[in-house]
Amino acid sequence: MLELSDIRKVYRLGPVEVEVLRGIDLRVEAGDLMSIMGPSGSGKSTLMNILGLLGRPTSGSYRVGGRDVSTMNDRELSAFRNEHIGFVFQSFNLLGHLTALENTALPLVYRGLARREVRRRAQAILEKVGMGERLDHRPDQLSGGQKQRVAIARALVGAPSAVLADEPTGALDSDTADEVMQLLIRLNREEQVAVVIITHDPVVSMLCRRRALIRDGALLEDPGEAREAGAA
Ligand SMILES: Nc1ncnc2c1ncn2[C@@H]1O[C@H](COP(=O)(O)OP(=O)(O)OP(=O)(O)O)[C@@H](O)[C@H]1O
Ligand SMILES: [Mg+2]
Repeated sequence: MLELSDIRKVYRLGPVEVEVLRGIDLRVEAGDLMSIMGPSGSGKSTLMNILGLLGRPTSGSYRVGGRDVSTMNDRELSAFRNEHIGFVFQSFNLLGHLTALENTALPLVYRGLARREVRRRAQAILEKVGMGERLDHRPDQLSGGQKQRVAIARALVGAPSAVLADEPTGALDSDTADEVMQLLIRLNREEQVAVVIITHDPVVSMLCRRRALIRDGALLEDPGEAREAGAA
């Protein structure tokens, strides 16, 4: 579904070149629940940006649902991203002047759906994440865990192929982090959406069926045991 082959990313800062990703191969299948760990600066966010069609690799191929995205222009890419990818960030990235309902609805507004339909879908997904009683609250009227629930609703409202979460529990206390993880796990199962979670937290990683590590520009996937334990 998401298929990276031999992805390289080089950043150039003046005369200095840094090769952050050195030939990453990764297939994310429908319904996967995967964690990616790695030291700070190892390229996790860089990889997530490429997976999320926010950044282009220096070389390598990337196919989403069988389509080669390297040939798309920025407009095509935005529309494709809107359809296929949902994002969740550590700092929630909700718009402060919009309500929970309006924030959740944004991906559908960009698609140009009718208002009534937008509202119906946004409300339904907010109910699913346990925020049905907070539709008209603005972000500053919500707790951290509630904000992340709204962000997760926004990521899912457009029925994407994959949700990419960069440190989704990084700003939360451990109980709230656990609730957010249980929510992501439930939605992964119920909505059959692939979920890829970047995390520093081994507890978060342990909850995922697939686990990978970025080190020295390479992605190493933990095989066997871990996967079977998670799948059981
Ligand atoms: N736009 C950029 N220009 C130049 N260098 C960059 C750019 N973005 C990232 N880098 C460098 O690429 C490397 C990887 O950065 P990245 O943000 O992907 O790391 P990360 O694994 O997400 O780290 P963290 O765990 O701290 O979030 C770092 O050395 C960073 O300085
Ligand atoms: Mg990062």
